[in-house]
Amino acid sequence: MLAIGYARAMKSGRAVGIDLWIPAMGGTSMETALRNAELEGVSDRVEFRRGDACSIPYPDNHFDKVVASLVIHTIPQKKRDRAFEEMIRVLKPGGILALLEPKSDRWIKWRVDENLRRKLEGMGLRDVRFHPVTLTYPKKRVVYLITGVKEG
Ligand SMILES: C[S@@+](CC[C@H](N)C(=O)[O-])C[C@H]1O[C@@H](n2cnc3c(N)ncnc32)[C@H](O)[C@@H]1O
Repeated sequence: MLAIGYARAMKSGRAVGIDLWIPAMGGTSMETALRNAELEGVSDRVEFRRGDACSIPYPDNHFDKVVASLVIHTIPQKKRDRAFEEMIRVLKPGGILALLEPKSDRWIKWRVDENLRRKLEGMGLRDVRFHPVTLTYPKKRVVYLITGVKEG
């Protein structure tokens, strides 16, 4: 859905959506994503690939922006740093990383806090900010938009 939203908003360029399309994780399927792109009239501006956020199938410094919604906290704790590193690797210098994630979940050891800010800064992001956002679907809850700019 994010890739389709970007494709609709962009005046030029292409949006790429990668996902492992894990059925039990509450996301969609590649078939549904392709169909939605068609319905929104953006099939020529968006592409989808099966890909792992921990090993993104694109070269260094490739994208102007990297966005992900409710993905990082679903990745096993030991692999999350790898996903952050990969997202930053494929960003162009000066490009923006934007992640939507819950504030915290102690069962999966996830927390948006100063440790996360320091970690992202150590990985080459500057101006790391956390913005609260209220989601209303499927239930009302506050999540955090995490943004940062790749140094260089
Ligand atoms: C909670 S769903 C969020 C779906 C959608 N982005 C949203 O905001 O509603 C988590 C999504 O992350 C995907 N995912 C989980 N681990 C992944 C990984 N290592 N690489 C790529 N996608 C992954 C799942 O397949 C699923 O589509």
